[in-house]
Amino acid sequence: MASASNQSVYRATTTAPVNIAVIKYWGKRDTTLNLPTNSSLSVTLSQRSLRTLTTASCSAEYPTADTLNLNGKPQDIQSSKRTLACISNLRALRKALEDADSSLPKLSAHPLRIVSENNFPTAAGLASSAAGFAALVRAVADLYQLPQSPKELSRIARQGSGSACRSLMGGYVAWRTGELADGSDSLAEEVAPASHWPEMRALVLVVSAEKKDVPSTEGMQTTVATSALFAERAQNVVPQRMTAIETAIQARNFHDFAEITMRDSNTFHATCLDSWPPIFYMNDVSRAAVRLVHDINNAVGRTVAAYTFDAGPNAVIYYEEKDSELVAGTVKAILGSSSEGWDGVFYERLASITAPGVSLEKIDPRAVEVLKDGVSRVILTGVGEGPVSVEDHLVSETGEILSTL
Ligand code: DP6
Repeated sequence: MASASNQSVYRATTTAPVNIAVIKYWGKRDTTLNLPTNSSLSVTLSQRSLRTLTTASCSAEYPTADTLNLNGKPQDIQSSKRTLACISNLRALRKALEDADSSLPKLSAHPLRIVSENNFPTAAGLASSAAGFAALVRAVADLYQLPQSPKELSRIARQGSGSACRSLMGGYVAWRTGELADGSDSLAEEVAPASHWPEMRALVLVVSAEKKDVPSTEGMQTTVATSALFAERAQNVVPQRMTAIETAIQARNFHDFAEITMRDSNTFHATCLDSWPPIFYMNDVSRAAVRLVHDINNAVGRTVAAYTFDAGPNAVIYYEEKDSELVAGTVKAILGSSSEGWDGVFYERLASITAPGVSLEKIDPRAVEVLKDGVSRVILTGVGEGPVSVEDHLVSETGEILSTL
């Protein structure tokens, strides 16, 4: 809820989560409105591990321009068309409320001061734009007391970063590609809440990239323009997979969920390789993680783990809580003390494990060596909730920027 202090500084603060897609968004059919060529589906990750905290504030007493401060550094909002688009959409919705009800304070006329912090280092190589834009949109919508649902707000967050529209909700979230040219039906919606399948876990293997990856916005444009495989993926492969994975989620069928997730990651990276010039996001360490997951599944005799990779080399491995020893326990035995991050609320069950869940003799020894050298940090997390309104404001009652960094 937005609150006004004596000095008429209005504030609202929210947290927002990271999401990791299991059916990937890759390709735009409209770059201005940021409309995708295919639907996508993601799992929202717990904010007990990773989250963005954002305060939106406004005051008639602030200097004229809107400002944004990210992780302690002032940003140039005027050069970010995406941020400007989100803010102007939200302001227009507030203005409509004020026009309809003259008793409302004219917040739409006040400059905004937005302050945002991630609780994870940028060096972790996790795309922070999804959580960042979701938090920005949610915080300003709360400040303006907008009645729009998360689904309606996803239309705005999408313009900040496509994947951000899925971070406005918890659990299992689909972003429907939509058909209308104006993008009004290209929205995110919850397929199932986190409570439907709360046992879902995610283990992120943080892999350092030797050189900077091609940014996703640029990479997907190259793929759309040059890959012959791409159209097949967008038109035929993804629609079937969307239906199949939603069925698997409704039935909590991990085997099907896992196979679709792994195949979709592979198809997405195949279209990257098929781009001209080719784009490589996965490296040798990523491929060792693929081998590891297949070896674990073979050794156990059922599918207990699924890998997926975004526009970078980090592996995200999904598994169910009951298989923690088999999956995370084996990874821990391989990486041992050379890796950080074996802590936090999702570590409790693993803390007492000393032997690997799967005999390391069943794992390709080359993959073991490459992973030991290449993975410096893990993040243990699981499915979680959507944005939460909080009172830990990053702007004081009198408008000063506060920091938790
Ligand atoms: C591989 O959402 O970062 O993570 O809309 O251009 O900001 P823009 O792209 P972005 O792309 C994410 C691509 C992906 C797959 C996914 O999250 O669905």
